[in-house]
Amino acid sequence: MNHRSIAIDGPSGAGKSTLAKRLAQELGFLYVDTGAIYRTVGLAALRRGIDLSDAAQVAAVLPQLTITMGYGEDGLQRMCLDGEDVTAAIRENEISACASKVAAIPAVRDFLMEMQRKAAREHDVIMDGRDIGTVVLPRADLKIYLTAAPEARAERRCRELLERGQQANFDQVLREVVERDRRDTQREAAPLRQAEDAVLADTTGLDLEGSFQLLLGIIRERLGMEEGSHAE
Ligand code: DC
Repeated sequence: MNHRSIAIDGPSGAGKSTLAKRLAQELGFLYVDTGAIYRTVGLAALRRGIDLSDAAQVAAVLPQLTITMGYGEDGLQRMCLDGEDVTAAIRENEISACASKVAAIPAVRDFLMEMQRKAAREHDVIMDGRDIGTVVLPRADLKIYLTAAPEARAERRCRELLERGQQANFDQVLREVVERDRRDTQREAAPLRQAEDAVLADTTGLDLEGSFQLLLGIIRERLGMEEGSHAE
């Protein structure tokens, strides 16, 4: 059976994961957060104390890793690393930079490709990441490039950190956002860019509800899904 796939790509902090999660629930699709998979490799490399910018060192540890993606009773994605549930650990702020560094390594991207494509073969998916529409699922039924101004994204990230009881300094978070954008868009391996056939959605100035309605409207129109229609 052919499954439907929606690819959502864009820079960090554009609201991809929050929106994709809600959209998946609304439409009855499986939400696949591919950033979580890269974060798991970043965490593994950090724990092993290897130099994350040394592609050969990182590539050498990949065969030793057992990374699995599953879904909890709440329907949310859980990541396991060598049998340990690392779903919470990969959300630590320092893991963002680690993930961005290992994601620039082609061997890491190749290593994680099949896991992502398999999910799309087996389920209706909303998959978010940086190269889903361009590399992982080039034949996705719908591609959305979700973005917002760096300042808006840094502001959202600060709010998120504060809500989790962590420290947040706007200037530092903005610097991190800009630096991560630079690394993600300028790397040689599968850089972040808008696919030619992707619909551009800019959420600067929109709140979560406004962004959700914008994307839901695009999906319903492009995939011909009526309100209330749900995947079987
Ligand atoms: O979406 P995120 O912040 O959890 O992603 C973490 C890092 O992983 C981010 O810097 C870019 C990288 N990434 C990627 O290169 N390709 C993907 N499909 C998803 C994430």
